[in-house]
Amino acid sequence: MNYYNEIDPKAAAWLAELMADNLISEGKIDTRDIRFGQGEAQMYLTPRNAGHGHPRALDLFCGAGGASMGLHRAGFDVTGVDIAPQRHYPFRFIQAEATSFDVRGYDLIWASPPCQAFTLANHRARTAGKSKHPNLIPVTRALLSAGSGGTPYIIENVPTAPLEAPIMLCGTMFGLGVFRHRHFESNVPLVAPAHVNHAGRIGDGKFFCVAGGAGRWKSWGKVKRNVTKGTVAEWRRAMGSDWMTGKELTQAIPPAYAECLGRQVMKLLRESVK
Ligand SMILES: C[S@@+](CC[C@H](N)C(=O)[O-])C[C@H]1O[C@@H](n2cnc3c(N)ncnc32)[C@H](O)[C@@H]1O
Repeated sequence: MNYYNEIDPKAAAWLAELMADNLISEGKIDTRDIRFGQGEAQMYLTPRNAGHGHPRALDLFCGAGGASMGLHRAGFDVTGVDIAPQRHYPFRFIQAEATSFDVRGYDLIWASPPCQAFTLANHRARTAGKSKHPNLIPVTRALLSAGSGGTPYIIENVPTAPLEAPIMLCGTMFGLGVFRHRHFESNVPLVAPAHVNHAGRIGDGKFFCVAGGAGRWKSWGKVKRNVTKGTVAEWRRAMGSDWMTGKELTQAIPPAYAECLGRQVMKLLRESVK
């Protein structure tokens, strides 16, 4: 027997109608107030997720799961897709090409196409038209906007990427030890916390630049410092990701970013059935 919790009487009546029309599986509708809390305590139903409890999120280009972890913390049942095997990915995983993946049947689609095409390191090759890294943003946007039938989506990338009307998130908004500015494009309204002046700098022992392999050197007067230096343990703490290797961390976003945006989408989904 399925279990449906819906405090709003109109939405509960709507669920009953859907059930009568055989559009969702038969089950008990509970109209008592279950506070919308964290993770496992959440119980929210749309026709798509009816029967398995949590709204479903698809994380395309999931890597080792930085974004997925945030969506999980926001209450989503997450499936990750990546072209490469991801042995540390913590949720359901499908190894596949993301740009032609069947995106139907999810409540939120997240996509983090590779950013190498837009990084400063690739700037010269890019402007000379010699970049070896494809720009997968247009094809991803086309897949999400056309293929998903209006499902909320979020595309994440670096600030130099060609995203449309993005919002920006910074690690300082979440008390993290990275700045790691990232942009987010969406087809639903999203807001970012206030961005205040960075109270510190990379290399001061509190903030880390989680990037690259060999390290990046910077000069402050006569003092030269390797600003990407830091142990994997420090990087994990700085990013709030305790299950990734150093290399995986360099590719990831802090889970806090996806949690912040995932919670906003969750709220919209919840309001949409009222
Ligand atoms: C920037 S990383 C994603 C990191 C992830 N969002 C996180 O927070 O941990 C990009 C990922 O895209 C994957 N990738 C690259 N091209 C792909 C494709 N065509 N289809 C699926 N995955 C692809 C790479 O293997 C890599 O893991």
